[in-house]
Amino acid sequence: MSGGHLTGHVVVVGSANVDLVVDVPRHPRGGETILGGDLRRTAGGKGANQAVAAARAGGAATSFVGALGRDDAADLLLGSLESAGVRTDVVRRVEAPTGTALITVSPDGENAIVVAPGANARVAVGGEQAERVRAADVVLAQLEVPLEVVTAAARARRAGAVLVLNAAPSRDLPAELWRELDVLVVNEHEAADLASAAGSSGRPETPEALADALLARVPAVVVTLGPDGSLVARRGAAAVRVPGMRVDAVDTTGAGDTYCGVLAAALARGADLVDAARLATAAAALAVTRPGAQDAVPTAADVAALAALAEKQPSADPLPPVLRKDR
Ligand code: RIB
Repeated sequence: MSGGHLTGHVVVVGSANVDLVVDVPRHPRGGETILGGDLRRTAGGKGANQAVAAARAGGAATSFVGALGRDDAADLLLGSLESAGVRTDVVRRVEAPTGTALITVSPDGENAIVVAPGANARVAVGGEQAERVRAADVVLAQLEVPLEVVTAAARARRAGAVLVLNAAPSRDLPAELWRELDVLVVNEHEAADLASAAGSSGRPETPEALADALLARVPAVVVTLGPDGSLVARRGAAAVRVPGMRVDAVDTTGAGDTYCGVLAAALARGADLVDAARLATAAAALAVTRPGAQDAVPTAADVAALAALAEKQPSADPLPPVLRKDR
C-alpha cells in the first residue's frame, strides 16, 4: 500500500491483461501482413491500469477486484499492482488464462487493441470482494468485465460511496446501472454511443452537447478529449473545460486509464470533480510521453508539478524538456 497518510479508499473493479505490444510503421489493413518492432510484454488491462494510477496518485488506499489465471502473466500483473501499492488480496485466481491484449502502436502514438478476456470473464463480486467494495469511498469500474459484475459492485457499495464508471469499451448499459452511476467518464466516441443508446434526439456534435444529453441519465459526466483535455459537466452547473497540455505523444495506451485512476483517487481524498479532472488531465498528458500502460503511469509528484505549471502558464509552449521526445 502507498506510504503516507491515506484519507480515502478506492476500490477498482475490472480487468487485468498482459499487453503484447508491437511498434508498427502504420496499423495493418484487413488481410495485410506488416513487419513491426520487437515484441514487448507488459502489464495492462483497463482495471489494473486504473488501480495502479489511483495507487500511484497517493493519498488514498487502493484495492483491486479482478481475476487472474495461474500462469506467469498473472505473476507479471500481481508484481506490477503490488509494487504500485495496490492491495490484491481479494483478486480471484481461476482456471482460465490471464487476459491478454494484442496491441499495435504507430509512430504518432496511436494504438489499436484486441482483447482476449480469459480470466476477466470470471471476475465476481462474491463475499470478500463485496466486503471490500463496501469499504470503498470511491468504486471505479470499466466495461472489460461482464456487466453483471459492474452492477453487483454498484449494489454492494455503501450509501454515500461514489460510483465512477469509465464506459470503455463502449456498450449499452442496463437501466439499473444508469440509476446507480454518480460519475460517467467517457471519450467522445463512447459519449456519442451512449447518448444515442439513451435515446438522445438528433446527433449532438460538441462535447458539451453530448455531455448535456448524458446528464439526463447521470448526475455528472466527464468527457475526455485527448490532447484537448477534458470537459466536466454536472447537473445544475455550467460545464467546465479543463485544457489539455501539449506533449510529444509516444504511446497513448492507458492514458485514459491513468486519467480515471487519478480522478478516482482525488475524489476519494475529497477533491471537487473539476480539481480532480485537472490532476487527471496532467497525469494523462505525462502518461502519453512514455511507452506502455502501467509502466507509463506517473508519480504524484510529477503530476502535481505539471498541474501547477499548467495553472501558472495556461498556454505554456514549449513544455519542460522532460516531456519532449528529443530530450
Ligand atoms: O486502456 C488500455 C488497455 O486496454 C490496455 O492496457 C489493454 O490491456 C486493454 O485493456
